[in-house]
Amino acid sequence: MRHESKLPNIETTIFAVMSGLANKYGALNLSQGYPNFKGDQKLYDLVNKAMNSGYNQYAHMYGCPELRLAIKNKIELLYNTSYDPETEITVTVGATQAIYTTISTFIHKDDEVIVFRPAYDSYIPSIEINGGIPISIQLKKPDFRVDWQEVKQKMSSKTKMIIINSPHNPSGTMLTHDDMLKLQELTKGTNIIILSDEVYEHLIFDDEKHHSACMFPDLKSRSFVVSSLGKTFHNTGWKIGYCCAPQDLMDEFRKLHQFTVFSVNHPTQKGIADYMEDPNSYLQLSEFFQKKRDLFLEHVKDSRFKFIPSKGTYFQLLDYSEITDENDFDFAKRLIVDHGVASIPTSVFNENKLDQKVLRFCFAKTDETLIKAGEILTKL
Ligand SMILES: Cc1ncc(COP(=O)(O)O)c(C=O)c1O
Repeated sequence: MRHESKLPNIETTIFAVMSGLANKYGALNLSQGYPNFKGDQKLYDLVNKAMNSGYNQYAHMYGCPELRLAIKNKIELLYNTSYDPETEITVTVGATQAIYTTISTFIHKDDEVIVFRPAYDSYIPSIEINGGIPISIQLKKPDFRVDWQEVKQKMSSKTKMIIINSPHNPSGTMLTHDDMLKLQELTKGTNIIILSDEVYEHLIFDDEKHHSACMFPDLKSRSFVVSSLGKTFHNTGWKIGYCCAPQDLMDEFRKLHQFTVFSVNHPTQKGIADYMEDPNSYLQLSEFFQKKRDLFLEHVKDSRFKFIPSKGTYFQLLDYSEITDENDFDFAKRLIVDHGVASIPTSVFNENKLDQKVLRFCFAKTDETLIKAGEILTKL
């Protein structure tokens, strides 16, 4: 049968490729962004309880009311602003669906979307399948800062959306208060929608602060703020996320959401809602992951890799330019096959696969895994 691909240039996601190789060669898997340890038993008990108490039929189309309320409360506590759970918060199948649906709702053919590279790999295909045109802005090592002058130059009357991601996967950098003010200034008076991917909002290290788009009134009025409860609570396989936006934007989003997803796994939503009644469920995460980051870095500090400690997310970039000239994909592959450690080559997230000689390592792993991986990397 003949068909014309709608995404002719899209390859299998690097996460599947690297995890597949890691399994094949029995390598320590620091590639894909998920924990290799259990989440909190209390949360599992609450999800079981929800299932046993009858939360097993379709949930409310916008998300289980208890969960939308818990999300509202969390945002009020952390960011000193509010969303109406009836009209402005929607629970989604992971952050990925929130991203896809937001883009599909607003991007028409030939609309331009500004994307900072390296970028999480679902953004570009979601834009392209809708006929949109990704306008990439390449961030550079070692600090991956945004040059707002460049953003201004790339903005045009065709710019329909700007996607930001802070804390940033894969670099572990964060947009500062000043960055957010610059974005607010640049978009003021336009019809540009901001898609703010904040899935790592609870993983912030040292003295850093997360500046959510919802904290800046003009940005809030044009933003979808997206987060992931699967990521936050160590259960990426549950695929539960959410997005918040002003009602006029959310009304449009929900038109599509109702016919693509309709509603999200019910007992899991209810269990998470009950779990979030205690804010410590998310407030303690930064400390927990900072210890993991520090442990990993302690064990690679004497290696030939160069790094700036990650400020947020559970990823650490390691620059291997003093070890080899190989391109990052070949080196990442060799690390798996010959040395038993899996990582992600970051060129796959870049424009034209720019090779910056940096690999991404996920430190959401048991201490034992991190120590072993660090020891191997130090011998290279
Ligand atoms: C930046 C970013 N956005 C979104 C996602 C997807 O989150 P979810 O698993 O909730 O779809 C990820 C997952 O790795 C991510 O790193």
